[in-house]
Amino acid sequence: MNSSPWWKEATIYQIYPRSFFDSNGDGEGDLPGVTSKLDYVKSLGVDAIWLSPFYTSPNKDGGYDVANPRDVDPRFGNLEDAKELIAHAHQRDLRVIADIVPNHFSDQHVWFQAALKAGPGSKERERFHFYDAHADGTPPNNWISIFGGPSWTQVEDGQFYLHLFDSSQPDLNWENPEVNADFEKTLRFWIDLGVDGFRIDVAHGLIKEDVLTNHPDPQGLSDALRLDVAMDFEKRNALLLTVPFFDRQGVHEIYRKWRKLFDSYGERNIMAVAEAWVHPPVNATRYVRADELHQVFNFDLLTAEFNSDVLFDVVERSISLNATVNALPTWALSNHDSPRVASRIGDEQARALALFVFGLPGSTYVFAGQELGLPDGQLQDSDRQDPMFFRSNGPSKGRDGARVPLPWSGDTTPFGFSTGKPWLPISQSWKDFTVEHELTDPKSSLHLYKNALELRKEFLVGAGGITWLESSRHGSKEDALLSYSRGPITVVMNLSDSVQECDAAGKLLIVSGANVDARDGKKVIPARSTAWFLT
Ligand code: NOJ
Repeated sequence: MNSSPWWKEATIYQIYPRSFFDSNGDGEGDLPGVTSKLDYVKSLGVDAIWLSPFYTSPNKDGGYDVANPRDVDPRFGNLEDAKELIAHAHQRDLRVIADIVPNHFSDQHVWFQAALKAGPGSKERERFHFYDAHADGTPPNNWISIFGGPSWTQVEDGQFYLHLFDSSQPDLNWENPEVNADFEKTLRFWIDLGVDGFRIDVAHGLIKEDVLTNHPDPQGLSDALRLDVAMDFEKRNALLLTVPFFDRQGVHEIYRKWRKLFDSYGERNIMAVAEAWVHPPVNATRYVRADELHQVFNFDLLTAEFNSDVLFDVVERSISLNATVNALPTWALSNHDSPRVASRIGDEQARALALFVFGLPGSTYVFAGQELGLPDGQLQDSDRQDPMFFRSNGPSKGRDGARVPLPWSGDTTPFGFSTGKPWLPISQSWKDFTVEHELTDPKSSLHLYKNALELRKEFLVGAGGITWLESSRHGSKEDALLSYSRGPITVVMNLSDSVQECDAAGKLLIVSGANVDARDGKKVIPARSTAWFLT
């Protein structure tokens, strides 16, 4: 019997509700749409769903601009729909993780509206970062928003407010105890409604330091923080050590308090995972110390090249750093903020990497549509909705490509997603990526995911650490094979463009590409493929 808490080695399926399934024909996915597809979700073999925000929001940043964190936006349904979703998920033994957004509110939140009315020096303004302009009228400092453009917006009376993201997302002032009290209320609200955990948005951003000091290289810093801007490795690393608004020590005090709140629910095993982009990587382990959060995302695989040295280093570093605080790593190949893995590294490589990662210790996150092998949607600029595209004035195309709605069935776009016009167009070229189509094809990505997740559960959850067998770091041919054993399973990934022999023992359980040949005791692994063997 595995007595670990449910989240320790869970597979968590990320649903971006707006793009999942539209139950009412308005072109946008909604909560009843998610509920209606829970049998599908369960059939994948996942343990939990993480729902990106569905709270009341003017939707300037895909719902990460929250106007009321304790209610559901009418576009997604209502609180009854949320309760029903949670109840139906629990009936299927699926846990539910909500996305909490504590770094900022929407400018439509009552607090911000009250702050605008109350004026400079008021206690309402103290909940945010309002400051006077400099004598020459310029903003309090030169920081650049993560989405491009200044981090400050001026209001009518001349004061500026800070927003690390869009101007519609004013940052909250976590030095103000009312802010924490309100978030604790929100956490309890959703736990009492039934959720099992939280993904904490911008978990590393809540505390700011030196708000009145200019950064020596604001544009460099802004570029270093953006994954879509290429930069010399050393330069990026040096700049990332100078971020005045991320990863300040004060954030850990907040999570210590939250941990007590989670633990007060005892056997419900409420968990939280931090979205914390921090540097150097060792800093991420602070978020998962025993009295803080349960998991922290490791984002390295969202950008890692399909290269054995790179992947070896990412995996090894994440496992060993987490071990220093007795935590397990997390793995994610795609999410709503980054290009889909199949577009980034190629579809065969994406399958191979998924199968490689599913064998590893820790929790694995799957972004809805990843199981279908979906590429990024091809969009015209006129289709785009992401503020990142608009605020960067063009160089960043933004994140809409990864958010194109899911194709479910039929031969014609929008493939059963909606009876209306989808909020982002779904290309007709996705005909062979529908759930319906892939279910009929035993070689589909969908079948690979289902089979792999079932085998993971059967043989690997709770199976302890890995032992590396082959890597270029261990003397194998460069870029060819990466292999480890864990419990009774040997996992071998062939990263090269030609077949490779390996001497893994055991019976073939699953392979991401073509068939594995076995001759003279040697196994021949197809190009760009991963295979699992059972000994
Ligand atoms: C991270 C979220 O994943 C992203 O979608 C959002 O734009 C920012 N945080 C701001 O909330």
